Amino acid sequence: MPRIDRSNLDLILLEDTVWVLVGKVDLPSYDFNLTQFFSCRRPWQRPEQITAIGRFGAVSNYAKLYAQLAAEGILLIHSPAQYLLASELTHWYPLIEGLTPKSLWFSTPPSFESVAQILGLPLFLKGSRQTSRHRASLSIIHTAAEYDRATEIYAEDPILQWQDLVCREFVKLRPVPSPPSEKIPASFEFRSFWWYGNCVGAGQYWSTNYDWNRDEQTAALAIAKAAALRLNLPFVVIDIAQTITGEWIAIECNDAQESGYGAVSPFAVWQNIITLESSRSASI
Ligand SMILES: Nc1ncnc2c1ncn2[C@@H]1O[C@H](COP(=O)(O)OP(=O)(O)O)[C@@H](O)[C@H]1O
Ligand SMILES: [Mg+2]
Repeated sequence: MPRIDRSNLDLILLEDTVWVLVGKVDLPSYDFNLTQFFSCRRPWQRPEQITAIGRFGAVSNYAKLYAQLAAEGILLIHSPAQYLLASELTHWYPLIEGLTPKSLWFSTPPSFESVAQILGLPLFLKGSRQTSRHRASLSIIHTAAEYDRATEIYAEDPILQWQDLVCREFVKLRPVPSPPSEKIPASFEFRSFWWYGNCVGAGQYWSTNYDWNRDEQTAALAIAKAAALRLNLPFVVIDIAQTITGEWIAIECNDAQESGYGAVSPFAVWQNIITLESSRSASI
């Protein structure tokens, strides 16, 4: 994860409504040029303390950055504890249990037999924050040999080695067309952004060709909303997928400050946040 340098962060007052602290990530799915679409001011003088949404990609030490910015009077929208709740399965899972595949986590890998007995086969393996770059062979585990190989690679991976090892029940998801590759195959899966419990954007998670109809969208967003409300966070992303039997489940949660937009319209996300915030401040 890149280190964030304060001098590269741009503090913007968006439509005189919300503060956003922007850093360029250089990935098309993250970067969105707010100044091209909205009125953006960089007031010379600002209140001593403000709350800002961070949009600078993944952070290696959120608590440290939070403290550094707080000393300048910039409070990120999530406290370090809220950031963990949004980002780490070990924190969010207990709150959304039942809406997401059954999961167990370990600081050192347990025996293959013991997890396979509880969760069945195949197993879905990942770190508490992420998979190993969506590589199927390190996430979809059928045998003890595959498990040993995957856990060895996790232990050596500079990003995954400090995360807890998460073992999840493997749920068969509704497939969508995707070219054969070493990656986890694409499913009927969507990303949704939630601002204080309001959906401010939703769209395809994978960059292949599929779309939901109105009924599917309603059913999917009902599950995502239930998860968002249980987490009760300012700005969270919930990824939801349809199983092969037609139910909707939450796949993972994330801090929306860090999430890529996927196929979600960034313009709509920011426009919706601005509208919600201007009506909130008008009613105070
Ligand atoms: N328990 C599961 N059973 C089946 N497929 C899963 C499961 N969890 C995740 N997936 C699939 O694997 C993909 C990557 O998993 P995810 O948890 O989103 O990891 P990452 O944080 O690396 O994106 C998901 O988008 C989904 O398609
Ligand atoms: Mg994911």
